[in-house]
Amino acid sequence: MSYLITAGPTREPLDPVRYLSNRSSGKMGYALAAAAHTAGQDVILISGPTSLPAPGGVHLIKVTTAQEMHDAVHYHLPQAKAAIFSAAVADYRPAAAAPQKIKKHGETLTLTLERTPDILGSARASGYSGLLVGFAAETENLLANARGKLQRKGCDLIVANDVSGSETGFDTDENEITLVFANGEVRPLPRASKDALAEIIVGICAQLMVPSQP
Ligand code: CTP
Repeated sequence: MSYLITAGPTREPLDPVRYLSNRSSGKMGYALAAAAHTAGQDVILISGPTSLPAPGGVHLIKVTTAQEMHDAVHYHLPQAKAAIFSAAVADYRPAAAAPQKIKKHGETLTLTLERTPDILGSARASGYSGLLVGFAAETENLLANARGKLQRKGCDLIVANDVSGSETGFDTDENEITLVFANGEVRPLPRASKDALAEIIVGICAQLMVPSQP
């Protein structure tokens, strides 16, 4: 049984040379994978495009789109005892990727986007019963949004981070996070490096998986 971790952004093609994506660097997910490996776990890291080297000892599966990440996650989820979804998955993709490069015509261009699969949201629905950890990147109403996600997606823990500031969150080495547990506990953590936070999160996952005493 392994730890399954998603990381990085996804890229949704618009035409052969363009895509929609976001600013995720993948650092948090790669730090989690390294921390879980250091803690003695088998780790499957399913990552969108990043410039990061594969963490040593981790089984890295590279994907590009949200659909590919979804398919890879569901292939490996039955063997996972813990799943941590830190990827910044694109919520929408172009409804149809143009087969040829889109040429410019008018002064404006309207794109039609469609929803991508909600990978975290589909985990419990698929019958997965292991530990489920999601991330919530928010610019407002951090706790309310995190609690809503925890309930909607059937998570045991949501790692919430405020991405409205420029020094923490996307594409930075540090992060300031608040842990929101399914039992209602809210635990803000002091600002720290993503490596240090990853170690804490992996430790908490191990505690959450210890069966409670009768
Ligand atoms: N997530 C996912 N698949 C998606 C979208 C999100 O697996 N298509 C996961 C992320 O990896 C993260 C969590 O869901 O663990 C929350 O992602 P976020 O984008 O903050 O939340 P959404 O559910 O997409 O809600 P909203 O965009 O309304 O904030």
